[in-house]
Amino acid sequence: MATVLLTGGAGYIGSHTLVEMINAGYDCVVLDNFSNSSPESLKRVAQICGKEFPWYTCDIRDEETMDQIFCNHEIDAVIHFAGLKAVGESVEKPELYFDNNVNGTNVLLKVMQKHNCKKFVFSSSATVYGEPERLPLDETCRLHTTNPYGETKLQIENNLKTVYQKDNDWKVVILRYFNPVGAHESGLIGESPNGIPNNLTPYISQVAQGLLPYLRVFGNDYPTPDGTGIRDYIHVVDLAKGHLCALEKTADTGLFIYNLGTGTGYSVFDVLHAYEKACGKVIPYKILPRRAGDIAEMYASCKKANEELGWYAKLTLDDMCKDLFNWQSKNPYGYGEEK
Ligand SMILES: NC(=O)c1ccc[n+]([C@@H]2O[C@H](COP(=O)([O-])OP(=O)(O)OC[C@H]3O[C@@H](n4cnc5c(N)ncnc54)[C@H](O)[C@@H]3O)[C@@H](O)[C@H]2O)c1
Repeated sequence: MATVLLTGGAGYIGSHTLVEMINAGYDCVVLDNFSNSSPESLKRVAQICGKEFPWYTCDIRDEETMDQIFCNHEIDAVIHFAGLKAVGESVEKPELYFDNNVNGTNVLLKVMQKHNCKKFVFSSSATVYGEPERLPLDETCRLHTTNPYGETKLQIENNLKTVYQKDNDWKVVILRYFNPVGAHESGLIGESPNGIPNNLTPYISQVAQGLLPYLRVFGNDYPTPDGTGIRDYIHVVDLAKGHLCALEKTADTGLFIYNLGTGTGYSVFDVLHAYEKACGKVIPYKILPRRAGDIAEMYASCKKANEELGWYAKLTLDDMCKDLFNWQSKNPYGYGEEK
């Protein structure tokens, strides 16, 4: 079986993908600088799978150490999760985001080229669509970013197109994730945000746990059925499985782009009520003004991934909330200690 390097493999999506990859029989190597994760997630993955795997503390901008990793292992393909992802922080520190995400990816691609490793799966984001041109969003929709984080994803996508144009031996799969939520059903791995969560579901789960006083609902006057924003939430395990299909697609030379979502949009209140059902509690919330730059409604067309990858999201919003509640109950402080 092929050896696959997962950059950022200790993170939220990386660790869930690692479980699916190891269970499918791949030999996996992980590198992470742990800027937004902890080696504890890797220990938990080993526990879930009953198998150890090599991992390195390494920054993707560190060419020498990455070169050494490629010398140590015969790597056939790379799944590239490593990156900074907080939109608000990217507005405050755009240089850091461009250096970490864009420059870091360029260093990684250079090392791969040197070692003749040309199979690449990239974690892009639905954020590259900006304000949707039409719904559902398909891969041909206009690209337009509204913040530096999104711009880094778009620049990397464009750089990958150049890499492929220059050398047609590359096999590149760009995955545009919608909103990954939930956790592994074991409750051993999940999302472990640093500080106050940016995303809706970790925030809701921390309110339910009593760690935060109430959910802040930013706007209830959007042109949606209940007035709150609508997003396409996808269970992280479904998303993780999408990477296995993407990896199989790297048997073909070319550059391929796929949305990974469920194709169904849920409002903030839909998610809140589903989580209330999962945890058996009423969750307090307050309506606040809309946030600048927030979009009313976004959901994917996943037809292309369905047809070309044979991939379908199977898990429901109730599954996402049940598994998140299980993770949160077993790990109220994520992988960290009580602060
Ligand atoms: N979670 C989402 O909502 C979402 C949505 C769309 C796209 N994405 C993208 O998917 C990827 C994974 O996201 P995630 O939610 O698992 O985030 P995460 O922060 O949990 O995982 C990213 C991992 O990359 C590591 N990392 C960051 N910079 C690095 C560097 N320079 N060198 C080595 N390691 C580095 C972090 O320590 C972390 O373990 C990211 O590229 C993110 O932008 C995430």
